[in-house]
Amino acid sequence: MRLIIKNGRVIDPAQSMDEKIDILIEDGKIKKIDKDLKDDNAEIIDAQKLFVFPGLIDMHTHLREPGYEYKEDIATGTRAAAAGGITSIACMANTDPINDNEGVTSYIIEKAKKAGVVNVFPIGAVSKQLKGKELVEMGYISDAGAVGFSDDGYPVRSSIVMRRAFEYQKIIGKIIIEHAEELELSGDGVANESPLSYKLGLRGIPDASETSIIARDIEILRQVGGKLHIAHVSSKWSLELIEKAKRDGLNITAEVTPHHLLLNEEFVSTYSPNYKMKPPLRTEEDRVALVDGIKRGIIDVIASDHAPHTEDEKELEFNFAPFGIIGLETMVGLVFDKLVMSGIINLKRFAELLSVNPAKILGLKSKGSLEVGKDADITIIDPEKKMIIDSEKFQSKAKNTPFKGWEIKGVPVITIVSGKVVFKR
Ligand code: DOR
Repeated sequence: MRLIIKNGRVIDPAQSMDEKIDILIEDGKIKKIDKDLKDDNAEIIDAQKLFVFPGLIDMHTHLREPGYEYKEDIATGTRAAAAGGITSIACMANTDPINDNEGVTSYIIEKAKKAGVVNVFPIGAVSKQLKGKELVEMGYISDAGAVGFSDDGYPVRSSIVMRRAFEYQKIIGKIIIEHAEELELSGDGVANESPLSYKLGLRGIPDASETSIIARDIEILRQVGGKLHIAHVSSKWSLELIEKAKRDGLNITAEVTPHHLLLNEEFVSTYSPNYKMKPPLRTEEDRVALVDGIKRGIIDVIASDHAPHTEDEKELEFNFAPFGIIGLETMVGLVFDKLVMSGIINLKRFAELLSVNPAKILGLKSKGSLEVGKDADITIIDPEKKMIIDSEKFQSKAKNTPFKGWEIKGVPVITIVSGKVVFKR
C-alpha cells in the first residue's frame, strides 16, 4: 500500500527540514521525500496549507488497563491519542495488577496489538507493587518490551532502590522516570502550599516535596551514573536543580505538562476537582518559569500525564476527588495554539518537544523523524483551523479536563500510524 502526502510544509528537525515537500509512504515506512512525487497507484493526501510533523509522542499516559477499565482502556485511550494527533504513547505502571513483571508488560503489548490504534510502549515499575522497597526484575521486564521504568503516581520511595535501579540501568539502558514527590512532605495535601491554599482552606503540598526528591536523585545519579528523566516538573526551584545538573554534565532530562504551562493555582479557587492533580498547579511565577524553561531548553519534553477518572469520582468535593486530569485530546492543540501560534516557541522546537526528544529518551529508534526508512508515523496539523474543546465529543471514556470550552487555533487533523490513517477530522 502506498500513500503520498502532497504539498505539506514538512517540519523534521532530524533532517533540518522545514519546507514544502512530498512524502511517499510504502509498507508502513517512509520511502521517499522529494518535490513533486508522483505515483498513479498511491492514495493521495493533499496537505496544502497544512503542517506535517514526525508522529507526536506522549511519553506519559495512564491507560488504566489492566484493572481500571471503567476509567479508560487500551482501545479508548489509543483512540483518544489518535484524535489528539498522537501516534505513540508510553503508559505508566500504576495499573491493577501493577506492571511490575514481564507478564503484565506482555499483556499490555499484546492487547495493544489487537485493540490499539496507535503505538503503545509500556513503562515498567521500578519497585515491586510501587512500594519502593524491592527492585523489580528490570531485565525481564525490559526483555518483554518495556521502554523505561517508573513508579509514577508515587516516587521511588527508597534511595537505595533508586541507586540499584541506576546500577541496573547502566546495563539495560532504559530510562528511569521519576515522579518527584516526597510523600511525607505532601502529607494529605491537595493543592500548592501557599498563602492562597491557606485562604482557601486547602491542605498544601510544598515545592520541597518535589525538589527534595529531585535533589536526592541528582546526587545518586552523580554518584553512580545512569540516566534520569523527571516527570511533570511543576516548580521553578525544580528547574534550577535540573538546569544545574545539566550544566554539571549529568544525563538528566525533564518534562512538563500542558496544564502546568497554561494554568496556575488561582484556578483552584473554583474548587473544581478538574484543577486537582499531582503535582499541583503552582504559582504564576512558577508557570512563567516553566514556559521559560521550555524556551531555554531546560525542559526537553511536553507530556500529557493523561489521568482518566470517572465523572462520579471527579464530582466529589475537592478534598476527596482523585488527583489527575486527561490530556491526550487537548495537548497538541493547546501547545500549538498557546505556545507556537503565540510565538513563544517555533515549529522546530514544537517537533523536538513532542516527537524528537521523547523518541530519543525512550530509545524509539525508528520514531521521532521522517527520514527515509523510519516508521511512517505522521501528525498533520491545520494551523488555521479553530476548535472549541468539547469533552462530550472525546474518544476517551473520561471527561475530566479543565480545558472544556477553551478555543484553540491549530488543530491536529490527520493522524497516520505505520502508513495508515487512524484519524481524520
Ligand atoms: O495527578 C496525577 N494522577 N498524577 C499522577 O502522578 C498520577 C495520576 C493518576 O494515575 O491518576
